[in-house]
Amino acid sequence: MLGKRMQEALNEQIRIEAESSQVYLAMASWAEIQPGINNITAFFYRQSDEEREHMLKLIHFVNDRGGFAVVPPLEQPVLTFPSLQHAFKQLLEHEIFVSESINKMVDIALQEKDYATHNFLQWYVAEQIEEEALARTLNDKLEMIGNEKSGLYLFDKDILTVTVIDGNAE
Ligand code: FEO
Repeated sequence: MLGKRMQEALNEQIRIEAESSQVYLAMASWAEIQPGINNITAFFYRQSDEEREHMLKLIHFVNDRGGFAVVPPLEQPVLTFPSLQHAFKQLLEHEIFVSESINKMVDIALQEKDYATHNFLQWYVAEQIEEEALARTLNDKLEMIGNEKSGLYLFDKDILTVTVIDGNAE
């Protein structure tokens, strides 16, 4: 059975994962109307789907352990970006924020001696290492490219290989 404090923290994380899905969905929709970045667009849509999966995993866990998973209200995310660099920078910052939130939950699980939740959260700890590393790699590449059109063309091709390798590692 989940304690009250742990349940509240897990429900807050459900909100954050849902919000992450919305944030990346907005990036995907914005990217989709920019010319020539189809794979980047697909990447954002996939990130959005993954965040929804992260949310669902939490919902099932809370309900399976005798709690009640609360489906949260969501704020409208940022809809447009001055450049691709801005969007990817925001993605990295958002992932760092999510990692901090996961770490806080791990802390609470230890304080509450809730070892089942602690064990469950290890998947998220590992996932965040992957997500942050991927976001950093993509930001580094974009920084090197700058605003060159030819570089962006290659980045759009490259993002498929980077993310497929990362996806296989999960
Ligand atoms: Fe579910 Fe990318 O954090």
